[in-house]
Amino acid sequence: MIYVKNPEEIGKIKAACAVVRDVLAYVGKHIRAGMTTKEVDTLVHDYIVADGATPSSLGYYGFPGSACISVNEVVVHGIPGDLVLKDGDIVSVDVTAEKNGYNGDACRTYCIGNVSPERRKLVKVTEECFFEGIRDLKAGTPLYDIGYRVQRHAEANGFGVVRAFVGHGIGREMHEDPSVPNYGRKGTGMRLKAGMTICIEPMITQGDWRVKTLPDGWTTVTQDGSAAAHYENTVLITEDGAEILTL
Ligand code: MF3
Ligand code: CO
Ligand code: CO
Repeated sequence: MIYVKNPEEIGKIKAACAVVRDVLAYVGKHIRAGMTTKEVDTLVHDYIVADGATPSSLGYYGFPGSACISVNEVVVHGIPGDLVLKDGDIVSVDVTAEKNGYNGDACRTYCIGNVSPERRKLVKVTEECFFEGIRDLKAGTPLYDIGYRVQRHAEANGFGVVRAFVGHGIGREMHEDPSVPNYGRKGTGMRLKAGMTICIEPMITQGDWRVKTLPDGWTTVTQDGSAAAHYENTVLITEDGAEILTL
């Protein structure tokens, strides 16, 4: 079921997205080598709560953190814990917050200290993939044009596109229809409508795109052990464009 949001709902989604945007800016200022991923999670948790919002991920299907914190070969759903961040790591921090019954969701991949040029390029291209994906996006655009553009940009740079996880609609629920893959055929899929709110979130690998989930049931890593990056924003489709709500 795809929900088209009315102006009142869009206002609430924007408020939740503003919290997420601010949390990620705050994390960007404080994250550094020597911190544990649990300490980063605590920053996220306390910031969200102080903003009068709720960390949607905490307890979601039993997830034990307020953010997913995914280091190097961890692609998504890293569980905050005792892992100490070190020079050269790339760290994805994925945050969803709920305010007044509506959600916002975004992710950034941070570079810790001196990161190799290859990994920096991966992080940069992953962000570019998002902006490629939303290029010319507006009401009427075929849904899979997004993935087509993301995939084309990632693969043109020699990187892999994760298939096992996708973007999604967002609103009252963190995950709503439709699924928004980061791969696809141009000109296919449903036509987007004004008032839809979707999360576009390229997950890009330095090597092969295949992933596996560890026995903890959450931590998802690349099968070949290569590094991965993740970049996500919540986006509102309008008649003449797409508004990024978490920037
Ligand atoms: N923020 C993630 C997404 O982009 C989902 C979080 S999974 C959770 O869809 F278990 F941590 F909640
Ligand atoms: Co997310
Ligand atoms: Co998401």
